[in-house]
Amino acid sequence: MTHNKRTLRILGFIGAGAIALGLAGCSTGTESGEGDLITVGFVAVGPEGGWRDANEQAIQDAFSEEAGFDLKYAPAANPTDQKSQIDAFATFVNDEVDVILLTATEASGWEDSLELAQEAEIPVILLDRGVDASDDLYVTRIAPDNVKVAEEVGNWATSVYPDGASYYVLEGVPGLSVVNERNEGFDAAIAGKDGWDKIGAQTANWTADEGKSVIETVLKENPGLQFIFAQNDEMGIGAAAAVTAAGLTPGTDVKIATIDGTTPALEALAAGQLSFVAQYNPFFGDLAVDAVKKALAGESVDKTIIVPGENFDSAEAGQAALDAGKGF
Ligand code: AHR
Repeated sequence: MTHNKRTLRILGFIGAGAIALGLAGCSTGTESGEGDLITVGFVAVGPEGGWRDANEQAIQDAFSEEAGFDLKYAPAANPTDQKSQIDAFATFVNDEVDVILLTATEASGWEDSLELAQEAEIPVILLDRGVDASDDLYVTRIAPDNVKVAEEVGNWATSVYPDGASYYVLEGVPGLSVVNERNEGFDAAIAGKDGWDKIGAQTANWTADEGKSVIETVLKENPGLQFIFAQNDEMGIGAAAAVTAAGLTPGTDVKIATIDGTTPALEALAAGQLSFVAQYNPFFGDLAVDAVKKALAGESVDKTIIVPGENFDSAEAGQAALDAGKGF
């Protein structure tokens, strides 16, 4: 389908939607009018952990047929397999979908794909993860502010360790924008603060098993370790298991802070296994739908759309969050 025909169809969808809105009076803005569904190619990560499950389900729920969309979900072969994502991206361009959503398994290596979509005049919207490419090649990136979230972890850490601490960082999968951004934010918070002794940093690939095994080794060599910044919940929960296995008490001997805010992390916080959990809000399907509709209607969209969240800094806060249904 040529771009002009696709544009006319899309405008017809949005126009019909507007007519439906007018006729129906109180309908929501995303109900489809007459005519085709908006086809959305979702180049996703796939099964990776609690945050990913919540986020990708929220996106699929938001881009429902009832809302006027035909979402084609393309998870990566595994959470670090960029080739399968690039292949899925190319297929969506070839199939002339109306818009592509991309959560990248790798920050680099996307220029050719993004240029292909631009030549086909298919807008691309980044979800969660950024990419190392000109922002002329995509409409927007929708995500919580990783730098700010990690800076808030660091600010909390400096408040509980006013004289500094020996610490270790469990990083996510290497090469990801969010890993670099979380390091940037945490480092900014402790910059200039005395007494902060970085024992080291290593990827635990977002998993509890690797978080546990890394910290088991670290504690053997550094029994006086005081603080662990785990860049996601699963790695932090694994670290807590290692602290306990070493005969130490999480929250007393070693404090652990994590990012995401999944239910298991809030439960671990309530139980004293974790000491701080920064929410990395996965629920931004509505923001994504709004950005898609604006992009397809030729309206301007901010290059960065920040998803707000909150922090949980005590066992009581963890329990209160669970009671309020804030886990996922
Ligand atoms: O990109 C977001 C990160 O990816 C989440 O913090 C982590 O849990 C997921 O694996």
